[in-house]
Amino acid sequence: MTVFQWHRDDAGIVTLTMDAPGQSANTMNGAFRADLGAAVERLRGEREAVRGVIVTSAKDSFLAGGDLDELLTFGPEQADAFFASLEQMKGWLRELETFGFPVVAALNGTALGGGWEIALACHHRIAIDSPRSRFGLPEVTLGLMPGAGGVTRMVRLLGLQEAMPYLMEGKQVKPADALKAGLVQDLAVDAADMMAKARAWIAANPAPRQPWDRDNYRMPGGLPSSPKVAGLLTVAPAMLRDKTKGCYPAPEAILASAVEGARVAFDTACRIESRYMTSLTVGPVAKNMITAFWQQMRALKSGVSRPAGVPSWRAAQVGVLGAGMMGSGIAYAAASKGLPVVLKDVSLEAAEKGKGYSRALLEKSVERGRLTTEAMNKTLNLIRPTVDAADLAGCDLIIEAVFESVELKARVTAEAEALLGPDAIMASNTSTLPISKLADASKRPANFIGLHFFSPVDKMQLVEIVVGRQTSPETLARAFDFVLQIGKLPIVVNDSRGFFTSRVFTAFVMEGIVMLGEGRPPAAIENAALMAGMPVGPLAISDEISLSLYAAIAAQNKAGVEAEGGVYVRHPGEDVVERMVGEFKRPGKAAGAGFYEYPKDGRKHLWPGLAQHYPVAAEEAPFDDLRDRILYIQAIEAVRCYEEGVLRSVGDANLGSIFGIGFPGWTGGVLQFINHVGPAAFVARARQLAERYGIRFESPQRLIEMAETGARFTNEAA
Ligand code: NAI
Repeated sequence: MTVFQWHRDDAGIVTLTMDAPGQSANTMNGAFRADLGAAVERLRGEREAVRGVIVTSAKDSFLAGGDLDELLTFGPEQADAFFASLEQMKGWLRELETFGFPVVAALNGTALGGGWEIALACHHRIAIDSPRSRFGLPEVTLGLMPGAGGVTRMVRLLGLQEAMPYLMEGKQVKPADALKAGLVQDLAVDAADMMAKARAWIAANPAPRQPWDRDNYRMPGGLPSSPKVAGLLTVAPAMLRDKTKGCYPAPEAILASAVEGARVAFDTACRIESRYMTSLTVGPVAKNMITAFWQQMRALKSGVSRPAGVPSWRAAQVGVLGAGMMGSGIAYAAASKGLPVVLKDVSLEAAEKGKGYSRALLEKSVERGRLTTEAMNKTLNLIRPTVDAADLAGCDLIIEAVFESVELKARVTAEAEALLGPDAIMASNTSTLPISKLADASKRPANFIGLHFFSPVDKMQLVEIVVGRQTSPETLARAFDFVLQIGKLPIVVNDSRGFFTSRVFTAFVMEGIVMLGEGRPPAAIENAALMAGMPVGPLAISDEISLSLYAAIAAQNKAGVEAEGGVYVRHPGEDVVERMVGEFKRPGKAAGAGFYEYPKDGRKHLWPGLAQHYPVAAEEAPFDDLRDRILYIQAIEAVRCYEEGVLRSVGDANLGSIFGIGFPGWTGGVLQFINHVGPAAFVARARQLAERYGIRFESPQRLIEMAETGARFTNEAA
């Protein structure tokens, strides 16, 4: 055995210590499975001499979960083999819990996914009460489900209703909460205490049985046939469908596996679970989600987009110019990670108001018991509101978030730079203006970069780092480090009008808007986006952002393109935007009127006037077309960004699209979606959409080549 260390003491207690060689954490990979089998076989052989077993780990954590890289390699051809290996592993775990001697999980650290499933197969769980430890089953967040008995045992341990948040939402708990929930039975102060308690429990419980193997076992909360549970189960699938729109097979499989499994014997339930797990593992959605949320996320955080060779950096003090919506959010993001912030606006009152935004957020956390008043005050004391530019002296990073105007941004840049040290970085939070152009106003364009935050800053994890023509690798590396320092997710893109995320987002909303102009029913447009998995419909989100802003950005883009000697290609949706703003005076939610009505005393609803001004076309479009248009147009725009060198990596595109604009997670992101469909099928469908709805659906050359060669978007840099 290489993963499990076997040690049997004089009292006949076997300690199985998991310590996968060459890995920082134990995972349920092939070597682990082989060793688990070997350990169970040896226990079987030495059964008479064994008084009890303690399962623990030599790593910081207990066991991290399945080997996701390995899971990515299982396609439909491997379904039978995968099912068989799951069944085999479950057989071993079942044997372990039915040998007759006590088995204790000594949880020295975090046990998630497969780690928690091993723990569940033990009769007794003792955890070191460490604030860093987490227990739970996060598989669903990667399009998977617990497949090593986790669904079967959690349902039998807690009951259907109580188990659901862990199974369907991936809820994780700390040791103390796990104790309260009945997931662990005892806490220990340290490893020695834990092992002593494990031994004592074994001595006191020579022949324990799992709750579900006891003669008097009753499922907590009742069986699916009991009136209360049956009542819940009649609505559960509909509620789930409403949430996932049928885009996510994992929660559906979990619910089905839990309910079906609750009605049958333990071993049958386990087999049902293996079947569902196999279908998810070999299916496309788990592949998409693992690729984006595991592989590409890990690559991103490890700094694949960060220039190598630049020493790691931490900002010591940040200046934020403009205490409006974005500036106050950025100030909060930095201060809440312990970074001093100078927050400047045109009046002290405005700057104080910006600080007030942090106060409101922090007070809410205090109210909810997540923060102490002392910690709140400490964070607030880090934000210094000011009207005096001289206070910026000493900042090593300035982020400007003043109005979207080239002249104003040039002025504040010059003013700030005069006060900064030679290495300080000047960043702009502009959402539309080319960074290289803004850098013209800088005396040190190598130190100038775009840091594009998203609204609301406290909730949105993504920051799009925009590299200008003259931005130096040092500046990029430091900006990258800063984004990680404040706990956000950095993607790196090259300069272009709208960068990456705004271009793709614009493609999305304008597609919805142009559908309206074509005479597609507005409710169908909104629903098509929701059914595709977008969080909000294009008309609703446009109202939130404001149609007058769209009009202003379009005008600005047109002027910019023409100033550069290019020809501006007008989007057909611009006609609708102009009429909404000009003719109907309905620029959006802030004005109280947009595509939607916003009654003071009721829920918003689509403006009935849309039906009159945009009557439904005589020829109906298939609903699939509406839904596909929403996804395809974004993917096509992303490929254009890739082709033009705006995007630097596939992972940045995928994660940027999911975290920046809500591109559906089930797709694994905007480029992975093309892999999902298959480039050839994508190009064929895009051609059909181009014939029906306009040339903007024509595939970029790069995609046509990929369709011909069968190439796919992979994790390598573009
Ligand atoms: P805002 O209008 O809420 O805030 C701008 C603030 O800048 C105001 O408080 C204003 O008083 C202040 N200001 C104006 N001149 C100043 C000066 N000379 N010195 C210091 N402060 C000055 O605008 P918002 O929405 O916060 O946008 C700011 C920037 O962030 C813009 O460039 C915008 O394009 C960008 N952005 C906006 C997003 C959004 O969703 N609103 C998203 C991402 C970027």
